[in-house]
Amino acid sequence: MKILAFNGSPRLKGNTATMLDNAVNGARDNGAEVELFNLYKMQYSGCISCFSCKRLDRERPIVCVVQDDLQPVLQKVRDIDAILIATPVYFGSETAATRALIERLCFPYLNYADYANSHFPRRIPIGLIYTMNIPVEMMKTLGYDVTLGRTKTTLEREFGYCKMIMANNTKQYDDYSKYEANAPGEEKQAYQEAHFGNDCMQARLLGEQMASGKLFVN
Ligand SMILES: Cc1cc2nc3c(=O)[nH]c(=O)nc-3n(C[C@H](O)[C@H](O)[C@H](O)COP(=O)(O)O)c2cc1C
Repeated sequence: MKILAFNGSPRLKGNTATMLDNAVNGARDNGAEVELFNLYKMQYSGCISCFSCKRLDRERPIVCVVQDDLQPVLQKVRDIDAILIATPVYFGSETAATRALIERLCFPYLNYADYANSHFPRRIPIGLIYTMNIPVEMMKTLGYDVTLGRTKTTLEREFGYCKMIMANNTKQYDDYSKYEANAPGEEKQAYQEAHFGNDCMQARLLGEQMASGKLFVN
């Protein structure tokens, strides 16, 4: 079982990286070979709309032709068994680097002539991890179920079942007395002490399920 894991946070030791580490460890402890990429350490763009992947004379299975740091990684996707993507929520969506990855990952496999019939040759599971500042209760009010749900649908259409997990009300600063914040540091700290351990356990379980083939719901 080969898994590619992507950290879409610029903070390499933040909430997202911690959640992803738990998922990766869960997968590795169950025999998976996991390769981890920190997207903010790589130089690449989103889709440039060249439509090379939509040419009728293209080589199959098609991989995005744009030559940058993402190219060799997208080549690997052809041979893997699962994908893990972790991202903070920025302005109600994934981070820019994660969006760019998703564009480049999904668009070549999107079948313009038959949307329901992906060009990706197999069905593989996807684990999608979000971390965010807002509490659970606010997600629906702000429409996150729609926007994040759209990403899940996009990944599911091209690849296969996508399990989404979240960590809410995350801690952004070590010292809240020095920065603007929507809640006092003590409140955040108390919430995180009560919840983040469980969020990380959910992430570990996601990795375990992936590695043991229990995430195959098509
Ligand atoms: C530019 C920026 C935009 C953000 N936008 C949102 C947002 O729209 N909703 C939200 O809940 N949190 C938002 N956040 C908070 C982060 O999603 C949250 O703190 C996350 O857990 C950070 O992950 P990290 O520790 O891996 O960096 C934003 C943070 C930044 C820096």
